[in-house]
Amino acid sequence: MLQDGAGAAPQSGDDMDRIRIVGGRELHGEIPISGAKNAALPLMIASLLTDQPLTLDNVPRLADVAQLQRILGNHGVDVMVNGKRPEDRDYQGQTLTLSAARIVDTTAPYELVSRMRASFWVIGPLVARMGHARVSMPGGCAIGTRPVDLLLLVLERLGAAIDIDGGYVVARTESGLRGGTIAFPKVTVGGTHTALMAASLARGASVIENAAREPEVVDLADCLNKMGAKISGAGTSRIVVEGVPRLGGARHRVLPDRIETGTYAMAVAMTGGDVLLEGGRPELLQGALDVLTQAGARISSTNQGIRVARNGAGLDPVEVTTRPFPGFPTDLQAQLMALMCCARGTSHITETIFENRFMHVQELVRLGARIHLDGDTASIEGVERLTGAPVMATDLRASVSLVIAALAAEGETMVNRVYHLDRGFERLENKLGRCGAEVQRISG
Ligand code: EPU
Repeated sequence: MLQDGAGAAPQSGDDMDRIRIVGGRELHGEIPISGAKNAALPLMIASLLTDQPLTLDNVPRLADVAQLQRILGNHGVDVMVNGKRPEDRDYQGQTLTLSAARIVDTTAPYELVSRMRASFWVIGPLVARMGHARVSMPGGCAIGTRPVDLLLLVLERLGAAIDIDGGYVVARTESGLRGGTIAFPKVTVGGTHTALMAASLARGASVIENAAREPEVVDLADCLNKMGAKISGAGTSRIVVEGVPRLGGARHRVLPDRIETGTYAMAVAMTGGDVLLEGGRPELLQGALDVLTQAGARISSTNQGIRVARNGAGLDPVEVTTRPFPGFPTDLQAQLMALMCCARGTSHITETIFENRFMHVQELVRLGARIHLDGDTASIEGVERLTGAPVMATDLRASVSLVIAALAAEGETMVNRVYHLDRGFERLENKLGRCGAEVQRISG
């Protein structure tokens, strides 16, 4: 089964790496928050829109970022990575300069797209700039069917002709894209990214209705505006894009990762302790922080970031439904479920974004959790204690939920298939280890 992201098992020995966690330690200290994976990926893809260099700061060092570098390289994008400078702090993100002076290939082959779903998004910039793109359909993935119909709707509304040929989407326009109205029947982050990038180089104005309001959409719009685009309304559900004939280079800093922030906040709520999530911005995940407060964690915001603490008191159960931003994010659903495994009572979590995002349930059960699934709703009956066991998961957020459970479980948990974690969490074992967790990577 294909994964979301660079999910196909890597060729190297990384797939044999495991993470060993001995639970029961509180977390105390600071965790620096990295740049957001889900902002970095579309920003890197935006480099295809211009022949000038795009410099991105605070790019996280992740397997998905490395994989996208390879994919963009295939289209002719030259990627320069700034090495670590002596004055850089330990966890400084990397700086990438991406130059698409010449697009050498408008085909994105199956072997590459199937390893990372977000790479399908190259279709927007390629057709907008080159008038042609041939991009493999990404196929299914571990968290659901995830069709691309809404991304194709965008290109059709902007005047591209679409054909499906041998598993590939072929998008073409004779005389360039032209502005149009795109009314999404359903909120889609990738669809909104595609609309922003394609409409920026279309002739005339475009209106995006029911646009995704995720912070990563705003970050992309900000960067595109620096490149010369004319986008207004990003962050609301109605975005207007005045097309321009060309875009230029820019320098942009990737916003902090709200999912990484929320994940570590839940880890602290799980183990107890007191941790500063350095660089975390509360407004990017207020919905999730409110749920944590309701569960009994103490959250405060400081100049340096977000402080999360929980003393000896137990956790209260919660009722949560995942929703597009500003609602509770699907990308934190698995982590919240892990947390609720130890609450004093029964919680209910309903997943409304993806139809099959419960692969973590059976693995959490192996650790002693009591979870009952009924359609799109999980009932989690809190237990006194979890106990360590070997576990593995088939997607990124599911994997990290097992880490959270393991941090509180009695004894040793071995999390297998660590490459899923490496796709989305930079140096997870170091970040947790320096706050007192007993966690180590065991090379395969
Ligand atoms: N959808 C369609 N047709 C489409 C596109 C989407 O039906 O053409 C559906 C999806 O199947 C889903 C819903 O619309 O049911 C929302 O999907 P969306 O397009 O918003 O998701 P995405 O853009 O593919 C991004 C993130 C995901 C995150 C979702 C929702 C990146 C690289 N991926 O995916 O992140 O869960 O938005 O917020 O930004 C992750 O990081 O682990 C991850 C899966």
